[in-house]
Formats: sequence, C-alpha cells, structure tokens
Amino acid sequence: MNSFEFNKIAGGVLVALLLVVCIDKLSNILYAPELPEHAAVETEADAHSDADVGGGHDAPEVSMAALLAGADLEDGEGQFKKCKSCHTIESGGANGTGPNLYGIVGNAQAHSADFGYSAVLSDLGGTWTFEELDAFLTSPKTYANGTKMTFRGISDGEDRANLIAWLNTQSDAPLALPAVAEPVADEAAEDMTDTHDDAADAADDAADDASDTGDDMMDDVTEAADEMVDDVSEAADDAMDSASDALDDMSESATDAIDDMTGSATDATGGTAVAGSAAVAMIAAGSVEDGESVSRKCSSCHTFDEGDGNRVGPNLWNVVDKPIASDPDYSYSDAMEAEGGNWTYDRLWTYLMDPKAEIPGTKMGFRGISDEEDLASLILYMRDQSNEPTPLPGAE
Ligand code: HEC
Ligand code: HEC
Repeated sequence: MNSFEFNKIAGGVLVALLLVVCIDKLSNILYAPELPEHAAVETEADAHSDADVGGGHDAPEVSMAALLAGADLEDGEGQFKKCKSCHTIESGGANGTGPNLYGIVGNAQAHSADFGYSAVLSDLGGTWTFEELDAFLTSPKTYANGTKMTFRGISDGEDRANLIAWLNTQSDAPLALPAVAEPVADEAAEDMTDTHDDAADAADDAADDASDTGDDMMDDVTEAADEMVDDVSEAADDAMDSASDALDDMSESATDAIDDMTGSATDATGGTAVAGSAAVAMIAAGSVEDGESVSRKCSSCHTFDEGDGNRVGPNLWNVVDKPIASDPDYSYSDAMEAEGGNWTYDRLWTYLMDPKAEIPGTKMGFRGISDEEDLASLILYMRDQSNEPTPLPGAE
C-alpha cells in the first residue's frame, strides 16, 4: 500500500474514533439517568429465565454439530487465511508465532513439544475436541485468559464450523464428525433458549450500560479502536499473504529457469560445472554478514561450526559440495538417503528455497527461504564454513 492510501486509511480511522467518542458522550447525556430502573427489572427477568430453561445449555452444541455436518470445506480453507500469519498447517510445518496445526483436531492441548506455550495453555491438559476448539476460536482470551494467541476470535458460528471441519481434514486421522441430534424437539428448545438468551443479553447490556462510568466509556473507545486496528492489520496481513504468494510463484519460476539453464549448461559442457548459472551469480553477489544472520533461521536445528554436534538436523560445516546425506552419525530420512550426488550450489539453492518440493519426504520441517537475496547470502555464508571454500565457477 502506498503512503497516500495509508494516510487515507489513517484519516478514516481518526474520524471514526472521533465519532465513537461523540456518540458515546451524547448517549450518556441523553439516557444515563433513566437506565438503572430499567436494568434492575430486566436483570430479574434474566435470573428467572435461566432457571426456567433447564437443559437448554446443550442447545449450542447441537447446533455446532449440525453446522459441522453441513460445513463448507472450501470456505473453511479460506477462513484459515486468518490464522496463516501465525500458524502453518502442513504436516511437519515449522512453528511460527503460534504452533504448527497439522492434526490439531483431537490432539492434546499444547500438543507441540517444541513450542513455548503460555502457562495458561500448557495447564489446560485437555483435548482439542470440536467443542473445545469451537469455544477457543470464538474468543481465545475468554477461553484461556492470558493466552499468547493475540487473535480476537471468530464470532460467526458457521465460519467457525467451516474452519474446524477443514482443520479436521488436515490430519493423518481425521475424526468422525459429532452426531447431529433429533432436529424437531431440539430446534424448539433452541428457539426457546435463543429467546431467553436474547432477553438475558439485553438485560446484561442494559445493566452494563447502567453501571458504565467514564472509565468504562474509555474502555469502549479503546476496544473499538483495537477492533479497527485489528481490521486494518487483518487487511494488511491478507495483502502480505497475496504478495508473498506472488513472490513464491515468481521464485518458483526463477528456480525453474535456473534448473533449465543448469540443464543446458551441463548438457553443453558434459561436465558438472555450472559456469554462469544464475544461482551461482546471485550467490557470488551475496553478503556473508547477511548470510550469517539468515542462518539463525536454521540454528534451532543445525550447527554450522566445525566439529559441532548434530541437533534435529545434521551439522552443516563444509556442506557445500559434500555428498548428500553423508554424515555417518546422523540418521537421515529415506528420501534424503535416496537423493545421491553432492550439495552443489544449485541443489542447495533449490532445496533451501522449498525443501519439500525439491525432496518430497525430507524430514526437514522448514518451509524454505523465498527471498533470493537472503538465500544467496546464506549459501555464501555456508560456503565460508569450510577450510577450503568451494569455488564459485565463473564468478571469481
Ligand atoms: C497473531 C498470531 C495468531 C493468530 C492470527 C492465530 N493464532 Fe492460534 N496461536 C497463536 C499463539 C501464540 C498460540 C499459543 C498460545 C499460548 O501459548 O497461549 C496459538 C495457539 C493456538 C492453538 C492451540 C494449539 C495447541 O497446540 O494447543 C490453536 C488450536 C490455534 N492457535 C488455532 C488458531 C486458528 C484456527 C487461528 C485462525 C482462526 C489462529 N490460531 C490464529 C497465535 C495466533
Ligand atoms: C525444524 C528443523 C530444521 C530447520 C529450521 C532447518 N533444517 Fe535443515 N535439516 C533438518 C533435518 C531434520 C534434516 C535432515 C533431512 C532428512 O533427512 O530428510 C535437515 C537437512 C539439511 C541439509 C542436508 C544435510 C546433509 O547432510 O545432507 C541441509 C543442507 C540443510 N538441512 C540446510 C538447512 C538450512 C541452511 C537451514 C536454514 C535456512 C535449515 N536447514 C533449517 C532440520 C531443519
């Protein structure tokens, strides 16, 4: 978004804020004196209605089951855009701000051994059933007060059900959807409950309004502002998502082009040297210093120094031009073992750009580096981690 558009949006937000403040002030002046009486009456009604309804508490679960049974998986996948900035979903995907969510439905709460959860989430100790997920995603803060998941929640039940039904498919063992109970009697019960709930809500609202002091008003304004900021940042997130999708696509075609060039270079010379390959040229133009900071993305799983041990992944000292899967102390995936050949610059390039696409079945749970400059600098840094750095053909 350019700065002119940003200014327009910022201006809009300001105007809206001012309006909220004014309307709130006005309505307080106009209605405040009448409210307490009102609220007292309706709150009593509320207490009665709760007692009358009895078993009505099951109703929301029933409708959740019905929503799940009729869920639109495509829409559910679309809903997941709201989560993408913090969560990956594919099997073995890396943790981001939040943990990877593959197979989350039916899994233990705080399921990931290598994610640092908040105390409140680690203490839950339950299972992410459909119902628990539904409650959590309605309002994470209400469900687990103190959670690190700074996500407002999804208020629309259908949106939630679509999302949860889709999450359930992202698993080695999707759960059976909950049974839908007999509709006729339940619908009546539900309608009753809804009516009572509405009355209760109205009473609550009135009571809230009545007890509103100036402080509460500030809270409202802050909340409204928060919501607006959330909306704006959600829009920005979406924009970022599409932008990075586009980048991914671009870098994929670039990689393809490099592959093609490498292919023809090898064909022409009959050798393995890939003089003039675009990847090698970019690597030569990289910065070792930048590369070292990019390498922090790898350091949870890899060491780079000579003689350092293996972590989740093997030590990467002297990896350039080394035979693939050749560390005798490390147990590689079958896919990696079966690769054959050496870690040439080009193979490092394509592998690190998208590990799973290059070597399907690799157990390296890393999404890849789509920024070509970062990738080039990283490989230049990796080249330096050696007593005899492999020459960059044609570039030196
Ligand atoms: C702004 C970042 C952010 C967004 C957006 C976000 N989450 Fe989270 N999520 C987190 C964090 C951080 C945690 C860990 C919470 C904690 O430890 O308290 C988490 C935890 C979770 C958990 C619990 C996982 C477990 O292992 O127990 C689930 C389920 C979850 N998120 C689902 C979602 C879904 C579905 C969405 C989209 C509708 C979403 N999240 C959006 C950051 C986010
Ligand atoms: C979440 C952990 C994780 C992260 C992060 C990670 N890797 Fe890996 N890496 C692995 C695992 C596990 C393997 C073994 C893969 C296999 O056997 O399929 C591996 C294998 C490799 C190999 C093959 C080594 C060999 O001996 O053949 C290279 C090269 C590599 N990683 C580079 C990187 C780089 C560079 C980064 C950072 C940009 C990185 N990895 C990030 C876990 C990770």
